[in-house]
Amino acid sequence: MTTSRHKIIVAIDGYSSSGKSTMAKKLASDLGYRYIDSGAMYRAVTLYAMEHGMISDSGVVNEKALSEALKNIRIDFAVTPQGQHTLLNGKDVEHLIRSLQVSNHVSPVAAIHSVRKALTAQQQRFGAEKGIVMDGRDIGTTVFPQAEMKVFVTASPEKRAHRRYIELQQNGTPSSYEDVLANVIERDHIDETRTESPLRKADDAVVLDNSDMSLPQQEKWLMDLFNRIEKDINECNG
Ligand code: DC
Repeated sequence: MTTSRHKIIVAIDGYSSSGKSTMAKKLASDLGYRYIDSGAMYRAVTLYAMEHGMISDSGVVNEKALSEALKNIRIDFAVTPQGQHTLLNGKDVEHLIRSLQVSNHVSPVAAIHSVRKALTAQQQRFGAEKGIVMDGRDIGTTVFPQAEMKVFVTASPEKRAHRRYIELQQNGTPSSYEDVLANVIERDHIDETRTESPLRKADDAVVLDNSDMSLPQQEKWLMDLFNRIEKDINECNG
């Protein structure tokens, strides 16, 4: 484990299925930092909306009902023998929030102002003491614009769809590769063009295109960057 004199905030943003969560989790564990998957929080709100009939068959979200229900939605993270799991009002929903049905509905839910406001506030509370690695779409731009380390992860849509396809098979919720690719492309479009906190690289984020990188290579890249930033901070602080 690396010991840091000054705990920092690490913001890892990027496209869906770019592998950012895997990298972020490993970095947090190596550093002894807390890891927060902000996408899981948007997924949990989406699951709640689906379970409470707030999303029509054609995918239209009842924004008013969901905005009013936000006060009844509690999202926590629990450490289990299988890793960190997302809890929705105390129930472990880790498996359910990764299904293609939730993936298909999450982008419109994540575009709703009241949803973003509530989740951003909770994410900022998680990071109040620093020592946190958070991944998402707007962590370096909106949630923690002051983060000391910002990374923007990207990879080709085909590579990302392939990764998600394998993940869904492993989770026991298989889907065709074509459907997964279509979902990845559609989510990129919605994430990049929404008015509320669109997906974009923060000016001071470092880009990582991991299309052709192995997991160990990505992990080393991330740890090297962390070590450089930490060294700079320590030098500045004397
Ligand atoms: O990273 P993911 O695929 O689990 O994210 C699920 C969705 O949540 C994705 O479509 C974009 C949205 N999201 C967001 O808008 N802002 C974040 N900080 C994280 C995720």
